Amino acid sequence: MKKNTKLYEIAAALLAPGKGILAADESDGTAGKRLDMVHLPNKPENRQDFREILFTASDTEKYLSGVIMYDSSIRNFTDDGTPFPDVLTVKGIVPGIKVDTGTRELDNFKGEVVTQGLDNLTERFAEYYDLGARFAKWRMVVNIDEDETPTEAVLKMNIAMMTRYAQLAQSAGIVPIVEPEVIHAGDHSLQKAEMVTTKVLQMLFQSLIENKVDLAGLILKSSMVLAGSTNSEQTSPEEVANATLRTFHMSVPHECAGIVFLSGGQTPERSTQNLNAIAKMGSQPWPITFSFSRAIEEPVLKAWDGKLENTEKAKGVLLEVSKNNSLASLGKL
Ligand code: 13P
Repeated sequence: MKKNTKLYEIAAALLAPGKGILAADESDGTAGKRLDMVHLPNKPENRQDFREILFTASDTEKYLSGVIMYDSSIRNFTDDGTPFPDVLTVKGIVPGIKVDTGTRELDNFKGEVVTQGLDNLTERFAEYYDLGARFAKWRMVVNIDEDETPTEAVLKMNIAMMTRYAQLAQSAGIVPIVEPEVIHAGDHSLQKAEMVTTKVLQMLFQSLIENKVDLAGLILKSSMVLAGSTNSEQTSPEEVANATLRTFHMSVPHECAGIVFLSGGQTPERSTQNLNAIAKMGSQPWPITFSFSRAIEEPVLKAWDGKLENTEKAKGVLLEVSKNNSLASLGKL
């Protein structure tokens, strides 16, 4: 297999010890949900203001290795006219881009969705590379519902498209993050979450290997393995750590460059505690860190409250939350 050492360098920078990734890649629609929390309308200037806080806060490069952006934000500028990706690159933070275009429901498959976004992806990758992106994200959604959900058929379809995305990313000199998100919402047990996550990851890596994706230039973004959000038996950090690491050892080849976690709607505190418990289990075959969105952004939004005079306070909270997650990724919290 052709080795692209550039990809390995980017992956190594993203997975540097004590650093993690901020997923600020909400679609314009989802960004509206964030702005709702601070009672601001979902307008481009409000989205820009919030992102400017996230991207320009001082010293975040000590704890953040990368930031994932969305199509509209990678093209956006700070108030003084600096392109957002340049602001990050100058700080030594690697700009990334979400390239899937979201999910659609499927006829005849209740509760399952398919991720779209392969159209024109070669051309889009070339443009994103020129804009400064050096890694990308593609998310598929796995709902745990009735006995037969997720179905093998929909998993195979989503995984085939995720695999094609990973091939195209690597051809473009961009490190692919593959994110099969096993959804936390629901009343499923910890055991069920572990079974489904293991199966999905095994199918995914089998497909990536068969299709000659270079795992050393690829990052897995995974859910933590935990009981559904409405299950009466909630999972302790130690149980999350054991189940999650068992799952990875059963399914993630050691060549994979590393693993990052989404927060998946857990509270910011819980996401950080669980990450800390996982790191405390000791060294693993892969670097493991965070790639949180809500667990980082929610405290920042609270501090900002949509008010200009709170901008510096909000930037301070971003630094503090990033530092805590950095400590957690080292098991030092
Ligand atoms: P959360 O951390 O909010 O789950 O988001 C991470 C992400 O990138 C979802 O695609």
